[in-house]
Amino acid sequence: MQACTQEEVNKVMESAKSAQKLWAKTPLWKRAELLHKAAAILKDHKNPIADCLVKEIAKAAKDAATEVVRSGDLVSYCAEEGVRVLGEGKFLVSDSFPGNERTKYCLTSKIPLGIVLAIPPFNYPVNLSVSKIAPALIAGNSLVLKPPTQGAVSALHMIHCFHLAGFPKGVISCVTGKGSEIGDFLTMHPGVNCISFTGGDTGIAISKKAGMIPLQMELGGKDACIILEDADLDLASSSIVKGGFSYSGQRCTAVKVVLVMNSIADSLVKKINEKLGKLTVGPPENDCDITPVVTESSANFIEGLVMDAKNKGATFCQEYKREDNLIWPLLIDNVKPDMRIAWEEPFGPVLPVIRISSVEEGIHHCNASNFGLQGCIFTKDINKAILISDAMETGTVQINSAPARGPDHFPFQGLKDSGIGSQGVTNSINMMTKIKSTVINLP
Ligand code: G3H
Repeated sequence: MQACTQEEVNKVMESAKSAQKLWAKTPLWKRAELLHKAAAILKDHKNPIADCLVKEIAKAAKDAATEVVRSGDLVSYCAEEGVRVLGEGKFLVSDSFPGNERTKYCLTSKIPLGIVLAIPPFNYPVNLSVSKIAPALIAGNSLVLKPPTQGAVSALHMIHCFHLAGFPKGVISCVTGKGSEIGDFLTMHPGVNCISFTGGDTGIAISKKAGMIPLQMELGGKDACIILEDADLDLASSSIVKGGFSYSGQRCTAVKVVLVMNSIADSLVKKINEKLGKLTVGPPENDCDITPVVTESSANFIEGLVMDAKNKGATFCQEYKREDNLIWPLLIDNVKPDMRIAWEEPFGPVLPVIRISSVEEGIHHCNASNFGLQGCIFTKDINKAILISDAMETGTVQINSAPARGPDHFPFQGLKDSGIGSQGVTNSINMMTKIKSTVINLP
């Protein structure tokens, strides 16, 4: 794969800048029409793109196909939402503010920012690209994508679908290369007017270096799952297994720590273990539940967390097993706050369980984290659930289900080190625009 030089990046930026001027003047309904076309082409290309995802990022074949379909749906939804959100402005009159006569009329509309730089992560190279591309384009911006190294071929194939749909040259471009080589050059490029990033703590470095431009950042989480005594343990255990182990735990919204009340901990752990025993482990082509994690360094990092917990006396519910990048699902019980896995994000198929003696202890652990993406609570007492949700310092709390970003029109945001801004279709469209006012001054 080509690694772009800085000169090539400059050329892409120039072309994106001149294309954006015309694109912004293209009627909104036409922009929406092209997005609908791209969505349909993307879905038509489901199989080859899913094959790329399987090979590049070891996503199970069925999940890879789902990612492509979800992406097509997101693009269409964005086109529909865009015509509504961007199709109306505001009209204000001056005399509602003290001291003013009715002599000024203010008309507002939403205008594009210019060039949006999108930087998605390896775990959803297609879906977390289109969640940035579609809102940027419908709003009249041009878009430059820097795909992840693992997932770049899938992303290029997806971009090709937009080109096939007939987007004018320069409106959507892709810059490949190593983040370590062109990352700073791109994110600090004077042509960039907005950055939408999903990934790890590189995002914190980007936000410190980026200029005075809007940023949308989603930087991971340590999503806590609090299980109360009255919880439906069948529901909780199946949600924990799905939430913690789908795509081998490589999701920012994966359940990353279970905080369970002492009195039900044994039963819950037993139920989780029964379900873990049924997960298939192997290659993504065979649609296995657990597939190899994305890189060797990722596998080594996960192993470091596992060994730290072992050395500090945690209980392993399964034997720790690894072959190259393939790590077998592992539940680690009796985790204590001095263990790294109580706080750090493994991004792999290993899940710590912390036994708690009060709800307050669970909330305290959740809030002591640097992260604040999502959390979840399992209980039959909705009033209690809402009070706990209010107390949890996370962007979203799920009641009786595992954390998840979707449906993709829901707001999605992290507190603390989990991010800046809010995503979801409508929020992203708004974030990628500015308000423009025109004031008519009457005599
Ligand atoms: O990895 C981060 C993604 O935003 C999570 O999305 O909840 O749909 O898996 P998901």
